[in-house]
Amino acid sequence: MSGSMSSFLYLVASVCFILGLKGLSSAATSRSGNLYAIFGMAIAILTTLLSPAVSHFQYILLAIMIGGSIGTFVAKKIKMTSLPQLVAAFHSLVGLAAVLVAAAAFYSPQAFNIGTVQQIKAASLFEMSLGVIIGAITFTGSIVAFCKLQGLVSGKPLQFARQHTLNALLGASLVVLMLIFMVTQSIFIFWTMTVVSLILGFLLILPIGGADMPVVVSMLNSYSGWAAAGIGFTLNNHVLIIVGALVGASGAILSYIMCKGMNRSIINVILGGFGGDSSVVSADGDAKEMRPVKASSPEDAAYMMHNAQTIIIVPGYGMAVAQAQHALREMGDILKQSNVKVRYAIHPVAGRMPGHMNVLLAEANVDYDDVLELEDINSDFSATDVVFVIGANDITNPAAKTDKTSPIYGMPILDVENARTVFFVKRSLATGYAGVDNDLFYRDNTMMVLGDAKKVCDDIIKTLKGM
Ligand code: TAP
Repeated sequence: MSGSMSSFLYLVASVCFILGLKGLSSAATSRSGNLYAIFGMAIAILTTLLSPAVSHFQYILLAIMIGGSIGTFVAKKIKMTSLPQLVAAFHSLVGLAAVLVAAAAFYSPQAFNIGTVQQIKAASLFEMSLGVIIGAITFTGSIVAFCKLQGLVSGKPLQFARQHTLNALLGASLVVLMLIFMVTQSIFIFWTMTVVSLILGFLLILPIGGADMPVVVSMLNSYSGWAAAGIGFTLNNHVLIIVGALVGASGAILSYIMCKGMNRSIINVILGGFGGDSSVVSADGDAKEMRPVKASSPEDAAYMMHNAQTIIIVPGYGMAVAQAQHALREMGDILKQSNVKVRYAIHPVAGRMPGHMNVLLAEANVDYDDVLELEDINSDFSATDVVFVIGANDITNPAAKTDKTSPIYGMPILDVENARTVFFVKRSLATGYAGVDNDLFYRDNTMMVLGDAKKVCDDIIKTLKGM
């Protein structure tokens, strides 16, 4: 295939990726967005395979078969609740790929058309160093994020004295190592730079608390994009540069939007420490556990909702764990048939990944028009008869507005407390992801329906059908 033809096809692939990103910005168009992205990737892979530089297909096909089989197996097996850690694990692979490609280019520069051993072009050395540094930081950082989200490492921030000084020193030493590498082209410096970056990635993510993981995952997503773009320059591959920049920019924008949603700065997130030890957060936690709550039953909830005019359902992580979305939709539909106005309120960080609740509600065929974002529905709670909070906790916690010492202070919340009656469906009075007690459980207008979210919905449906 000629160079101009492959450039044209790469351009077509890039346009497909842009259309894919645009499609993913709304639930209604996300399917077509995904199809555009798949189509674009197929064009990019075929164009690369048909380029004159590729002469042996057997290893590539073998790699595609192995990678494709693993990908298919993982995609089929993965639970919705584990998607964030899967994304983190995949980012780590992008980081590792950037390091390995840079190493290949460093050891065989002639194969990449960037010079010969010890005579590599300065620009390529610069791109290579950036690819290695960002790639290695992404690799270990994503592994730590994966371990935290998977519960293999504590989600609490792990901090030690002079942590930021150490990270700053490592960052400065990387700049120095990069300069020495560009002058000497030394193998030793190349690998020292890689090892220091691996350590920095580990240290950067370790102190970040679990509640900030969504921002971190999207930040690492952005890093992996920039690493790919850096390697795209080394390989002189246009589609890799464009796609890397798209991923880098969209990840950075998503991180920014999430920080804005939590009313925090990105620097504050990166410096870590958020979501501190719950024993510190709720020093009087034991006393609170002893406070009385109003226990209620699915039958009571069914009765109250049947007689309400307006209901807002607030889904959270527990709904995903219980896979209660289908039962919840059925419950909502039955209530609608009784002329109750039923809507769903979505918090930007409900669940464990951006758009988590939207995906589950869409899967259960909840009407998109009934699903409203925080800013569109928050003022409606005060005119709402019943709020049905199902498996959500942190996103409703008023401590985010009132308690300056709380680690979630500043995060916008759904103002469910303003409704006439609030039902909380969860299994216990335990805290949510941020490890912070929720004062709402003890309020006069709160009824606790303790139990598994799906079981409670099934019981409510049974009662509603009998009315
Ligand atoms: P959480 O605050 O984590 O609360 C979820 C609640 O669900 C828990 O308190 C738990 O209480 C309950 N639950 C668990 N399993 C259940 C089941 N089978 N049936 C009924 N209830 C169940 O969730 P949230 O309100 O959605 O807030 C999200 C939190 O996660 C925020 O702190 C956010 O920053 C963080 N986070 C978000 C993301 C993204 S991007 N969305 C990613 C990572 C972290 P019980 O144990 O008592 O049942």
